Amino acid sequence: MRVTVLGLGYVGAVAAAALAHDGHDVLGVDIDRGKVERFRRGEVPFHEPGLDELVREGVSRGILRFAETGDVGPGDLGELVFVAVGTPSQPSGAADLSQVEAAMEWLTGLVQGANGMWGDAGDRPVVVMKSTVPPGTGRRLQERYLAAHGIAYVSNPEFLREGSAVHDWFHPDRVVIGSESEEAAARVRALYEGYGAPIVVTHTTTAEMIKYGANAFLATKISFINELANMCDRVGADVEVVARGIGLDPRIGPDFLRAGLGYGGSCFPKDVRALDHLALVYDYPFELLRAVIAVNSRQRLLPLFALRREFGSLAGVPVAVLGLSFKPNTDDIREAPALDLIPLLLQEGAEVRAADPRAAVRARAVLPGAVRVTDSALEAVQGARALVLCTEWEEFRRLDWEDVAACMDEPRFVFDGRNALDRERLEALGFRYQGVGRGRPVGARLGVPAAAKP
Ligand code: UGA
Repeated sequence: MRVTVLGLGYVGAVAAAALAHDGHDVLGVDIDRGKVERFRRGEVPFHEPGLDELVREGVSRGILRFAETGDVGPGDLGELVFVAVGTPSQPSGAADLSQVEAAMEWLTGLVQGANGMWGDAGDRPVVVMKSTVPPGTGRRLQERYLAAHGIAYVSNPEFLREGSAVHDWFHPDRVVIGSESEEAAARVRALYEGYGAPIVVTHTTTAEMIKYGANAFLATKISFINELANMCDRVGADVEVVARGIGLDPRIGPDFLRAGLGYGGSCFPKDVRALDHLALVYDYPFELLRAVIAVNSRQRLLPLFALRREFGSLAGVPVAVLGLSFKPNTDDIREAPALDLIPLLLQEGAEVRAADPRAAVRARAVLPGAVRVTDSALEAVQGARALVLCTEWEEFRRLDWEDVAACMDEPRFVFDGRNALDRERLEALGFRYQGVGRGRPVGARLGVPAAAKP
């Protein structure tokens, strides 16, 4: 099939390269000329494992081409036009749909210029929305932009995780297709038949709600385990064992029960806020979501509270922050906990140095100049009295902790914000270890009795 993919972020780029790998003739389109040129050379402008190979394969086979939006004519449009542009948060929490609207205008502009190129509706391109848009958006876009041109709309939400997006594309646990047009839904369905995943075909708004429901539920699961972790710290229980114990119940399941500094990234925070905002617009207070958001905002500050308890004042305390991406295997720093934490540490006088194996360059561009940013953990911990692990990169787990101990100064306080380190080993090496929900002695400061160690 001929497919156009508009928007070459990690969703659009993976879709374009994967569809080309499957043998479709794909044109990847973006407004950013520099990005387009890099893709043409077979380069991926961000870190996504496995994507470079896939892009190079498609480009060398001549089956994956790239163009800037302004250079695309109506004849270049495929039978399917995937839209994978950003839908960031507005200050109100609402999804900012300006890029989606611009995509619709671009497309309808091309269709208007087509001058009878297409005969009946069957020949016209079908819009396939990959961008996450609030429930109700698709029907509105269909009425406002597409109906007059006889173009059908399909909501086809993505469930790709950054860092394993290529794997997730080829191994979906389900495919969701929402449309008011059976023919259009069937055209999209054909793309996915070979993947062997269950395919849910439904109406547009229901498909959109599936996407929000999935992300909101996963975010809720994370905030729930974080609430339990905070209780574990107070009563002296170990949340890691609690998570295993409850996760063995198949009705609960073991995934997304990792306690820590909470969720970040380009998806959960914005989608949960957007659903909360949509609820407000529909005059429905979605109380549970409010709590999920509040818990997540507080969770990322736990290292600050722990450091205050440990040092009293943070003035002049050298603190190493390890992990600046929102999760491992990506250089994406959007809504990364470290980026909220570091300015607060600086504000309290700490001397912050930070390390990340992939995201150092991006983080340096947004962090205050006072922070020394490096890609080497050993450099960051040199002379530090405290270390905060914000992202559980394999490189950090595998550090030579004897070396780290030798580089750091007393009291060698480690806040393991992802419960990723070996507590016993670190304690044996003389670190003062604290995880999230791993049972710490609760001091008189909290006004509750000291809890026993688990
Ligand atoms: C998430 C979803 O997992 C994808 O299914 C979805 O397609 C995507 O959003 C999207 O809407 O585009 P992603 O943001 O890449 O994918 O990352 P996840 O691996 O889901 O992790 C999200 C955040 O939750 C990370 O900050 C991670 O550290 C945190 N997390 C995850 C926890 O704190 N605990 C857990 O148990 C799991």
